[in-house]
Amino acid sequence: MKTADKPLLRALGGETLKHPPIWLMRQAGRYLPEYREVRTKAGAFLDLCYNPALATEVTLQPIRRFGFDAAILFSDILVVADALGQKVGFEEGRGPVLEALTTGKDLGKLSLDGFHEHLVPVYETIDRIKGALPPETALIGFAGAPWTVASYMIEGGSSRTFAKAKGWMHGRISDFAALVDLLVEATSQYLIRQVEAGAEVLQLFDSWAGALSHPDMRQFSLAPLRKIVANVHARHPEVPVILFPRGVGAGYLDFAVEEFAQGLGLDPGVPLEWARDHLQAHVCLQGNLDPQLLVIGGRGMGAGVARILHRLGKGPFIFNLGHGIVPETPPEHVAELVKLVRESAA
Ligand code: CP3
Repeated sequence: MKTADKPLLRALGGETLKHPPIWLMRQAGRYLPEYREVRTKAGAFLDLCYNPALATEVTLQPIRRFGFDAAILFSDILVVADALGQKVGFEEGRGPVLEALTTGKDLGKLSLDGFHEHLVPVYETIDRIKGALPPETALIGFAGAPWTVASYMIEGGSSRTFAKAKGWMHGRISDFAALVDLLVEATSQYLIRQVEAGAEVLQLFDSWAGALSHPDMRQFSLAPLRKIVANVHARHPEVPVILFPRGVGAGYLDFAVEEFAQGLGLDPGVPLEWARDHLQAHVCLQGNLDPQLLVIGGRGMGAGVARILHRLGKGPFIFNLGHGIVPETPPEHVAELVKLVRESAA
């Protein structure tokens, strides 16, 4: 099969397929017993991310089980902060823990020197995955968007209010701009290397874009993403990019009409008719089943899937969740979901 014939790439090229390609955000992870086994063997979470043999294995696990149309590199958005020199750890039950940036002086500790050397295991993982995938399966590389990554770097972990990150955005304006510029440069270079290692599609996760006002979203989510995509496309114009600015509401229109990316990931709250009528003429849409419906399964899930396929299946579309799979998800429900989507006809 030629690269261009892969269903995921056809959808991102603007084709409407008889049934949409399907993959799931966080499709490798703790809901799979075979992942938990490898995870235990690897030790710390980042050790797994930087171990090409084990990271390749967990990337392939959901492909073997479910035959998704795409594999997504197993890594994390915070490896970029780690490679820039900020210590990143993951604690059981707490998530990411970083030594928070407190003042502009801390920016001096971050540097692009040694950035790629640190990330060599990730590039090697991509190369290995590429050699092991079935011919019809596309390989997705990814990175976090500058706003989402900056929020972890300034907060030192997850946050509900983003008080510190917004404090920088509106109080330490030039420090915040310098951090965003550094992340634009680092992320652009990182994604270019991922393409050169074998990634065929790129997804940018802006998981916390929905926490911003509309003008802040345009300035600190959309504008940096536009720059990153321009940098990547200057080197690799053929690579489709999917943006996932979770929670931006009517702001999705801004991302769609500017047409700088080929795909747009919708969260579960986006009204389907609105998306079909206002977004789908501009970009291939992706989404947006509520991850809890995948936990519940049965008729609730079936009805949710049917609604989405009915509204979005008549244009360029990729079936996905509206956010990542949760660890409580029964793997049998995932198999059932793939069957429902594959047996559908728009
Ligand atoms: O999708 C995939 O299968 C590829 C791997 C992937 C992971 N994280 C692995 C992971 C991807 C694409 C991500 C992206 C990511 N990481 C995002 C954006 C997407 C989103 O969910 O909003 C964010 C915000 C992060 C940061 C992060 N990493 C958090 C907040 C956490 C803790 C929460 C949790 O689920 O535990 C992680 C850890 C993480 N990243 C795990 C996995 C499989 C769980 C760690 C473990 O196995 O112990």
